[in-house]
Amino acid sequence: MAATALVFLLITSLFIPSYTQDIQSPDQEAFISIVISQQGLDFLKNLLITKAISSIIPLNLPRIEKTVKIPFLGNVHMRLSNITIYEIDVLSSFVKPGDTGVAIVASGATCNLSMSWYYQYSTWLLPVEIADRGNASVQVEGMQVGLTLGLENQNGTLKLSLMDCGCYVKDISIKLDGGASWLYQGMIDAFEGQIGAAVENAITKKLGEGILKLDSFLQALPKEVPVDDNASLNVTFVKDPSLSNSSIGFDISGLFTSRKKILVPANKYQSSQPSVFCKDSSKMLGISLDEAVFNSASALYYDAKFMQWIVDKIPDQYLLNTAGWRFIIPQLYRKYPNDDMNLNLSLSSPPIVKILENDIDATVYAELIIDVLEADLVIPVACISLDIYGSGSVKISGNTLGGSLKLKDFSMSLKWSHIGNLRLYLIQPVIWTLIQTVFLPYANVHLAQGFPLPIVHGFTLKNAEIICSRSKITVCSDVEFTESQGLNQIMFN
Ligand SMILES: *[C@@H]1O[C@H](CO)[C@@H](O)[C@H](O)[C@H]1NC(C)=O
Ligand SMILES: *[C@@H]1O[C@H](CO)[C@@H](O)[C@H](O)[C@H]1NC(C)=O
Ligand SMILES: *[C@@H]1O[C@H](CO)[C@@H](O)[C@H](O)[C@H]1NC(C)=O
Ligand SMILES: *[C@@H]1O[C@H](CO)[C@@H](O)[C@H](O)[C@H]1NC(C)=O
Ligand SMILES: *[C@@H]1O[C@H](CO)[C@@H](O)[C@H](O)[C@H]1NC(C)=O
Ligand SMILES: *[C@@H]1O[C@H](CO)[C@@H](O)[C@H](O)[C@H]1NC(C)=O
Ligand SMILES: *[C@@H]1O[C@H](CO)[C@@H](O)[C@H](O)[C@H]1NC(C)=O
Ligand SMILES: *[C@@H]1O[C@H](CO)[C@@H](O)[C@H](O)[C@H]1NC(C)=O
Repeated sequence: MAATALVFLLITSLFIPSYTQDIQSPDQEAFISIVISQQGLDFLKNLLITKAISSIIPLNLPRIEKTVKIPFLGNVHMRLSNITIYEIDVLSSFVKPGDTGVAIVASGATCNLSMSWYYQYSTWLLPVEIADRGNASVQVEGMQVGLTLGLENQNGTLKLSLMDCGCYVKDISIKLDGGASWLYQGMIDAFEGQIGAAVENAITKKLGEGILKLDSFLQALPKEVPVDDNASLNVTFVKDPSLSNSSIGFDISGLFTSRKKILVPANKYQSSQPSVFCKDSSKMLGISLDEAVFNSASALYYDAKFMQWIVDKIPDQYLLNTAGWRFIIPQLYRKYPNDDMNLNLSLSSPPIVKILENDIDATVYAELIIDVLEADLVIPVACISLDIYGSGSVKISGNTLGGSLKLKDFSMSLKWSHIGNLRLYLIQPVIWTLIQTVFLPYANVHLAQGFPLPIVHGFTLKNAEIICSRSKITVCSDVEFTESQGLNQIMFN
């Protein structure tokens, strides 16, 4: 009865609406949303229960002493000591998010204890005290353990609190090694309630401590995840987690920020109301990235001036000599015969990423300056503006989202020239080759490195799927827990 009441209390406490809606500042927009589905919550719950049990046992309980009146013997002083819970088994458990928190209930749990018993009494029949000692094993059955966890955003990190916690023991059976025949009933009468209460208290206390550790673990999660030497991903939580009856959603900033103190102009991004949608509802986790995430990366690397380079080695090396251009730009060859050249490629604005239904569009505006190298002098001779249209794709490897780019189309125009007019239709095939053989491979080496998705250390994506929809990329995946440091070490020691 009491067990059912416990579950009832925990569950109802979830649905008392809280009126402490925090005021969100308008610029705290979320560009990455994460949703943990019921499958994911079950996975986490099972992991937590396993970890919690292995961190709890062996658990020592305080000794219990009592003087009991036993028929024919009189007052007997009994003592249980070295009471140790050495095994806990959970038959069934569930996790349920509600309006205000998340309930986790383990029912039908059993736990096994070992203990030493001792008794003594004196009787007027005999001039000596009678005492005996031995060991006993105790089985606690029908145990019910439940807790309700509150989750909120506190200054950009997750705050976990224990709103409710209870443990209820239904049945106890004791097996004595040795002892007199009256002892068994005497022990049951005297200690059943006390052993039950001691188990309930100890487990409740331990769970409280465990939640505190889990909370400090969450509080200590970094607000930025390094991507490379120059950039990191802002993983600050921007709203309270949203709890539905079968999932928990988290909103994080998700924009790229500079790691060095380079002044990057503050860009304003607008998120199209984050939402996570996984076609396969059996996946544990969905992560939606707004296209602003990619555009913030693009802006960051552009502003930090990493997007320009001097090309002095290409597969068609003859093109880096004016002789190679003899028939394409005859006046170049005439003015600088047989001089080496290099190409100075730079972007004129941050590449623009647009995510469409089943496609990713990337537009790159670049400038290609043709330099002639003559006796230690770099002489810019012409500049061509390029609008490159690419089609992107992304893939997951480990917890990293990497990308690649394919050329769809490009257009070019002459920006300036010191060697007269150029016949662009002759140059076009050369530029096409350069884009294919130099620019794209270079870009793809960097894009392939990708960036880490915001996933707590120790968890790895498994069977991930990627869905491109209007302005969003959603990764739907299962996770597995890699028994490493991280969670294990911080939480459960
Ligand atoms: C990260 O995002 C939060 C929320 O939008 C913002 O307050 C914070 O300034 C950002 N951090 C950096 C380093 O840009
Ligand atoms: C207490 O119990 C544990 C486990 O049963 C046992 O290993 C240990 O020796 C006992 N200690 C005492 C003082 O009896
Ligand atoms: C623990 O107790 C259960 C019954 O409650 C029993 O089936 C199991 O064998 C016990 N385990 C040990 C190691 O004694
Ligand atoms: C009780 O168990 C402990 C540890 O297993 C052992 O050292 C001790 O001898 C046992 N006591 C009796 C009276 O059997
Ligand atoms: C949140 O941050 C502000 C300013 O950094 C600080 O004054 C406040 O105490 C913090 N709140 C909590 C609950 O940590
Ligand atoms: C990071 O910045 C340095 C210059 O500060 C540059 O040399 C390096 O290539 C950059 N790394 C990446 C991955 O962009
Ligand atoms: C969750 O809520 C939706 C409506 O918001 C309802 O249709 C659905 O049946 C609920 N699921 C459970 C498991 O309670
Ligand atoms: C490359 O071109 C840019 C302008 O587009 C210029 O600022 C830069 O100095 C040039 N680099 C070299 C090495 O010529």
